[in-house]
Amino acid sequence: MQQATGTSVAKIILLGEHAVVYQEPAIALPIAAIQLIAHLTPRSDHHQQIHSEFYTGSLAASSPTAFSGMAQLIHSLLRFFAAEKQGFDLVIDSALPPERGMGSSAACSVAITRAFYAAFETALNPEVTLNWAAVSERAIHGNPSGLDAATTAASRPQWFVRGQAPHPIAFPKTGSLVIADTGVPGQTKVAVAQVAARLQTHPDATRKLLTTLGQQTQKGALALAADDLVALGDALTAAQAALATLGVSTEALANLIDAAMAHGALGAKLTGSGLGGCMIALAATKAEGQVLQAALQTAGATATWQHDFV
Ligand code: MEV
Repeated sequence: MQQATGTSVAKIILLGEHAVVYQEPAIALPIAAIQLIAHLTPRSDHHQQIHSEFYTGSLAASSPTAFSGMAQLIHSLLRFFAAEKQGFDLVIDSALPPERGMGSSAACSVAITRAFYAAFETALNPEVTLNWAAVSERAIHGNPSGLDAATTAASRPQWFVRGQAPHPIAFPKTGSLVIADTGVPGQTKVAVAQVAARLQTHPDATRKLLTTLGQQTQKGALALAADDLVALGDALTAAQAALATLGVSTEALANLIDAAMAHGALGAKLTGSGLGGCMIALAATKAEGQVLQAALQTAGATATWQHDFV
């Protein structure tokens, strides 16, 4: 093993969360400005130490913690490289807020996988990266579509259908996405389970909502291809209505969405699993995005970011 780093980025789901678990398409963007870096340094003793904001301590003692899913991935990687006894320090530096719908756990899995492959001087292709990320994502989320890992490992916006290779999708040159944090942790596992339960108790109505979400993603893709930001905004707003009926929006998300719409957003919705986390709002220009950021801060957002399409 040699010293190595692995990098990944935040993701934002533009359209298709939840429905993507049920085979509908989704569109998601990597946010290159918000990075996660895993630094792996070999040790001469056999200690395997983790240093991160999620967990700090020995790998062996991490099992009952929020890091268990990641620990499962690291154990599998060590087995794969026949290095179960290798000592190391793994430092995870993350600019992604955890549990906010920005793909923090997937980004962590992707960066760790990249760091291990680099440390063992082994080539890694995108498909294998996503297979590894699925190990921890399954442990953490139960039934992940794979969208989070695909986007945190990507460098361009992605069109994603579960079980298929993701492919890049073109974005207009103008337009800006404002991201705002409610400050409330999102609950991916709970939200995904809640939608699954709803599908059992109200199959027809829930299936219809998932289809509607898929249709809005298709409309969003057409709007992107036509550089039509107004139509894209309408797709975001229609998707939010379906997500709210699905039961995954919250009052805090709705307040920020209302504030964005009242200050000129072309469309707004929650992003990620919901039940907390972040919302996104579409602005026609960078300057209008800055107005939205200020309005969202006044409305109570605990953090805001802006991603210009240019
Ligand atoms: C979570 O970021 C996105 C969901 O669609 C779950 C998934 O795709 O695995 C809610």
